[in-house]
Amino acid sequence: MKFFIDTANLEHIREAQDLGILDGVTTNPSLMAKEGIFGKDQVLRHYKAICDIVDGDVSAEVIATDLAGMIREGEELAELDEKIVVKIPMIKDGIKALKYFSDRGIKTNCTLVFSAGQALLAAKAGATYVSPFVGRLDDISFDGIELIEQIRLIYDNYEFDTQILAASVRHSMHIIKCAEAGSDVMTGPLSAILALLKHPLTDSGLATFLADHAKGTQK
Ligand code: G3P
Repeated sequence: MKFFIDTANLEHIREAQDLGILDGVTTNPSLMAKEGIFGKDQVLRHYKAICDIVDGDVSAEVIATDLAGMIREGEELAELDEKIVVKIPMIKDGIKALKYFSDRGIKTNCTLVFSAGQALLAAKAGATYVSPFVGRLDDISFDGIELIEQIRLIYDNYEFDTQILAASVRHSMHIIKCAEAGSDVMTGPLSAILALLKHPLTDSGLATFLADHAKGTQK
């Protein structure tokens, strides 16, 4: 399973990249706003800065919601760097935009997906990635992981090339459950990735090993 980091924070992206396990980055307008990145020029510069750090795909979201606007913005984003994946919302004109970019070999990520039917449409339109929002479904008492399982079954039935990118991943258990469900990619915050490291028996075991080793060096 590929690991993407879901942030526009350059320090977090650097830390994940330095760990050697990062396969890409996803962003959205809210994550950009959280870092104080506003206005077209600043946003484009920030995407370029992210691309310069990470060794993998970088999702950059269009703001337009009409077909012509999404095409215009998407083409501009795609020209920034070959790592850019144009992120398109799951709306009617978004489906047309996915098809437009797919026909031209430009990578896409269909975002704001909350049902199997939406995921089926995104795959039919040739999306490179589909982003079901696991955490936001859990927030409203729907099982986000069950949606990943459902999409996996449908995509496997018809050998769709679209990759399932589990988004809105909030914690380490989401990551493990996404891996069990066969998600191709998960995107989550640095805290969820680092939490995978933790186990009290690792910490106590290491402390014992180091203490026993120290006994030998004292003789
Ligand atoms: O990038 C989209 C998604 O990952 C947002 O996550 O935590 O705001 O639901 P969240």
